[in-house]
Amino acid sequence: MPASGPVELVATSLVKRYPGVVALDGVDLTVRGGEVHAVAGENGAGKSTLMGILSGSIQPDEGMLIVDGTPARFRSPRDAQALGIRMIHQELNLVPAMSVAENVTLGAEPQRGGVVDRAARHRTARAVLDRLGQRQLHVDTLVERLPLAARQMTEIAKAVASNARVLIMDEPTAILAHEEIEGLFAVIRQLRAEGVAIVYISHRLEEIDLIADRVTVLRDGRLVDSRPLGQLRRDDIVRLMVGRELSETYPAATTPPGDDVLRLEHVSAPGVHDASLTLRRGEIVGLVGLVGAGRTELARAIYGASRITSGRMLLDGQPYAPRHPREAIARGLALVPEDRKRQGLVLPASIRENVALSSLDARARANIIDAKAERREVVRWTEALAVKSPTIEKPVRQLSGGNQQKVGVARWLLAGARVFLFDEPTRGIDVGARAEIYTLMRRLAAEGAAILMISSDLPEAIGMADRLIAMRGGRIVGELSHADASAERVAALILGQPLPESAA
Ligand SMILES: Nc1ncnc2c1ncn2[C@@H]1O[C@H](COP(=O)(O)OP(=O)(O)OP(=O)(O)O)[C@@H](O)[C@H]1O
Ligand SMILES: [Mg+2]
Repeated sequence: MPASGPVELVATSLVKRYPGVVALDGVDLTVRGGEVHAVAGENGAGKSTLMGILSGSIQPDEGMLIVDGTPARFRSPRDAQALGIRMIHQELNLVPAMSVAENVTLGAEPQRGGVVDRAARHRTARAVLDRLGQRQLHVDTLVERLPLAARQMTEIAKAVASNARVLIMDEPTAILAHEEIEGLFAVIRQLRAEGVAIVYISHRLEEIDLIADRVTVLRDGRLVDSRPLGQLRRDDIVRLMVGRELSETYPAATTPPGDDVLRLEHVSAPGVHDASLTLRRGEIVGLVGLVGAGRTELARAIYGASRITSGRMLLDGQPYAPRHPREAIARGLALVPEDRKRQGLVLPASIRENVALSSLDARARANIIDAKAERREVVRWTEALAVKSPTIEKPVRQLSGGNQQKVGVARWLLAGARVFLFDEPTRGIDVGARAEIYTLMRRLAAEGAAILMISSDLPEAIGMADRLIAMRGGRIVGELSHADASAERVAALILGQPLPESAA
């Protein structure tokens, strides 16, 4: 029986080994009810492995768990759930064809006379959602019709309905837009006030500053420090994570932009209306907007993944109308997509095979003379991005999430494109590697590439871009130079509010 008072989950001396890596090397952790416990660390530090052990999906090689003073052994997530410990998965374990109410009460349906009591089910789900402040979420809507943020809320409600006392969230904001994060935080604060323990993984330090009570930092499978947030400054967390000082500044352009490379003239395409813009050699252009503003759709049109219905595009002054991404690639374009899953990584294949031999990289392959040169190139780019792996022969499946993302980026760098479209390039990537991606983007620009970067991380967009273009409702609604781009002005543009005076 759950003890009264706040829950306490203790992990002691956890060890987890995989072939060639020690994912966790003697980690201790104490999670208490009424506390938001952030776990930080570089890609591959062991965060997801630790969460997997706490929630019963991974069995440790050594060490033990103690729940409310009693040793516990989880053979499966079900064992953990029986003690009120639940993980909110990034993939969101919901049944898409069922309603919110059905999902929230799944496995614990209120019964009446041997059948599901639908009215009671409706009431239960409604009550939980109301408690979480989600009055706008209808319980009869099918989950497949909901946006990601609402699905995540449904998943949280499902955990709350089953009386979860420990909620584990692995990068919950990675699927959320900037403006949706506050809604999640309100729910987390509510649960904390009710005595629930929240374990929270994020690569965004400003989120940890906002929401955490305690921070634990992992590095290379070891716990390097665990303290109340008040005792750690942001620089301290970064230093503990990466083991060295790291400035949170963005590399600036060293040369003025060159010739026009890509021009869009009054382009309309699915989700895009009358967009005109120019990308120049050596320049990083940030594309900002809310979710659904048309940024990804614009990138898809440029990339030949959707067809333009009017207007025209010019590449180096020549007509450019790709009917397929293959044609775009052949003309020197690269799209680094936002979603790890859509990177088209072949999970059982090695890092080397994924970087060098993707079916799309015919052009790159033709440039590679022999296996040795290929290895050299792959090592060059995976090192530049700090992909953490003992060898480039490791299957991509065995890499941590962030490192998979980096492999996805590396394959495009190897392809040597001239126009790069980066869609949320640093989502899920740790601070150290993020700095390396920024440096790399600058280097690509300095070598003559034109870069269009979609980012929902406003500080990143403002910091990196030489010029910012804002979209709203499928249209380009404004442009700001780097010097003019304050956070307030960019936010006003995105939201369609009057522009505050420039500070300059
Ligand atoms: N199933 C597996 N087989 C082999 N190695 C694995 C497996 N799962 C994880 N690893 C390795 O264990 C280490 C820790 O991985 P983990 O996923 O816990 O990192 P993480 O801190 O969550 O990183 P990220 O921030 O990238 O998500 C990594 O070196 C990873 O490659
Ligand atoms: Mg992870």
